[in-house]
Amino acid sequence: MDIEKRVDGLMSQLTLDEKVGQLCQATDANERNLALARQGRLGSILNVAGPEAANPAQVSNQAQRVAVEGSRLGIPLIFGRDVIHGYRTVMPIPLGQAASFDMALIEEVAGVAAREASACGVHWTFAPMVDIARDPRWGRIAEGGGEDPVLTSRMGAAMVRGFQGKDPSHPERIAACAKHYAGYGAAEGGRDYNTTWIPENLLRDVYLPSFKACVDAGAATVMSSFNNLNGLPATANTLLIRQILKTEWGFDGFVVSDWDSVQELIPQGVAADKAEATRLALAAGVDMEMVSTCFAESLKALVESGEVPAAQLDDAVRRVLRTKFRLGLFDRPYVDESRVNALLADSHRDVAKRLATESCVLLKNDGALPLPPDIRSLACVGPLAEAPADQLGCWAFDGRGEDSVTPLAALKEALAGRCEVTYVAGLDHARSSETKGFAEAVRLAAKSDAVVLFLGEDAGLSGEAHCRAFLDLPGAQQQLVQELAEVGKPLVCVVMTGRPLALSGVLDKVNALLVAWHPGTMGGPAIADLLLGKASPSGKLPASFPRTVGQVPIYHSHMNTGRPPSPGMSDIPTGTPLDPTGFLSGYLDVAPVPLFPFGYGLSYTRFAYSELKLSRDSMPVDGKLAASVKVTNTGPVASDEVVQLYVRDLVGSLTRPVKELKDFARIRLAPGESRTVSFTLNADQLAFHTLEGKRVVEPGAFHLMIGGNSRELLRAEFEVRG
Ligand code: BGC
Repeated sequence: MDIEKRVDGLMSQLTLDEKVGQLCQATDANERNLALARQGRLGSILNVAGPEAANPAQVSNQAQRVAVEGSRLGIPLIFGRDVIHGYRTVMPIPLGQAASFDMALIEEVAGVAAREASACGVHWTFAPMVDIARDPRWGRIAEGGGEDPVLTSRMGAAMVRGFQGKDPSHPERIAACAKHYAGYGAAEGGRDYNTTWIPENLLRDVYLPSFKACVDAGAATVMSSFNNLNGLPATANTLLIRQILKTEWGFDGFVVSDWDSVQELIPQGVAADKAEATRLALAAGVDMEMVSTCFAESLKALVESGEVPAAQLDDAVRRVLRTKFRLGLFDRPYVDESRVNALLADSHRDVAKRLATESCVLLKNDGALPLPPDIRSLACVGPLAEAPADQLGCWAFDGRGEDSVTPLAALKEALAGRCEVTYVAGLDHARSSETKGFAEAVRLAAKSDAVVLFLGEDAGLSGEAHCRAFLDLPGAQQQLVQELAEVGKPLVCVVMTGRPLALSGVLDKVNALLVAWHPGTMGGPAIADLLLGKASPSGKLPASFPRTVGQVPIYHSHMNTGRPPSPGMSDIPTGTPLDPTGFLSGYLDVAPVPLFPFGYGLSYTRFAYSELKLSRDSMPVDGKLAASVKVTNTGPVASDEVVQLYVRDLVGSLTRPVKELKDFARIRLAPGESRTVSFTLNADQLAFHTLEGKRVVEPGAFHLMIGGNSRELLRAEFEVRG
């Protein structure tokens, strides 16, 4: 039977209490919540079973049985969990995944996460997180695709496809949830949960497209965010949810609040009490309340008194039921408990390793990498060489450190019998300021052929509520770099991190610098392959790396001022105040450009770009053109390259960014091989929003730029005709 008819059938049987129940989500399958489920007064549970359960599928089936067999109408519960970057097989953090620019692989990896999570009775993940983040102080930059709306949109859509597949009711698929809607990443000062001010044109041009992309890809649900947006918290924001998401975009799944975010309307100062919070959230378009109990306590009375229209309640309930039908929960409420054996399957670990390899970004290499094949002794130093839990990253609820293969273990295995690999941590942990281990590190370095230093952030320095005011290496790490540099051996630094760091102080002291993010369960073998030259680095930065925290926010698609930064200013040593060189736009003590721009990343070969050609030099506002470029691998090894296409609208009715990423392609070239890479640019991709909220493509001259990062680009010009 058609889903809408089945929803109608149920709607006609539900009592008011049961309708409200469908809109309530509680955490934990405890006695109290199971009693509510039995009474038909609960629609969803998150965190039904954690890694402590011998078989999470069994726990989930037990809880489901209470609702399906014990409640009056037998409506199944929907079980949610944060499966953010993998389930038991932990994948690189999303920011690292974004660095791969490999959408097919990201989709595959989300599919693996869905297979593992669904095997444990999870129906619904709170991912993808598609918040644009341009301030690396914000700890949650780790969870998303970085600074760019096009990259984050593509990644969000790939993850939705990976989680849900073509048919989300398939037993190995789970529902996606695009979060946090919206603007959350623009938190003032990079402090989590903080206020955001985003003009509507910027909101629509930069912060909303990634959500639209997820909705277009079929995302079953969306989560409203915690933040106050332009004075009105997102969870009470009718413009965001009811108007834009549900009316303009035609989203017919359901919106879940974030954890307690309905109740938080009270301390935020827009609701006097739980009843008002309920009324505001429901009116704005929130359909299900996560954890706090405003709906449970006040919605029934509000509907009875007419303060909440019955139609508003019914619409919310219909959305929840529709989604449960779409997921096949009515037809197949239970999970096959033997499926847990598929966790950590070899094929899952293989894709995790592939993505970890592709996500590492090489920022400097003076020839120290790959390590020479005849190396006889290698000193591994640093707290993150052997930190199995930290390499999993900030949101790996169901991952286990004991499953991780660390870089130290992987290097030892790869080099067994031909090179002695020794290890000293130097620092007990990543944040330590205790330097007593340095002497041993220096001694080991002095007697080795080369040193690999594993530094960065432990997993607890990024993620929700884990923001930083400094972007330097924590603790005494910088000093450790200094002391090892003085030894004079080839020094390779691998940085594990949940955010872009300010690495100016490291760069000139090391021979090579590789950013590995938090690479997940298989991070070690991926890093070992790269260090030893079995694979060539190919990741590109999904967010600019600043020289110092004082430059933040800094991103490639900024506007021009009326004053250019003087070219000489790019050489200012960080922290050295210079005399002003004119009335220019910059700082006296640091160059006004990032240390490494968006899209940047080296490999073990070189790529030459030539012959940028456009199929035409002008197009109508509803037209398209083709752009092609020849890319040649002029170096010694095969490698992947991420070819990036940017545009600039030279004169608009509003100022336009100096460049905006519009498209990209990941290609592989053998040494000496050339390929012509073609893109189609639709005029529609040039659209932006006016101050009146109109989406326009304006006639005029544009630059089209293609290259291997956002700084070094070939350029052509075209015109859009009115
Ligand atoms: C986070 C969400 C998460 C939810 C459920 C909240 O605190 O902001 O991202 O999905 O908790 O765990």
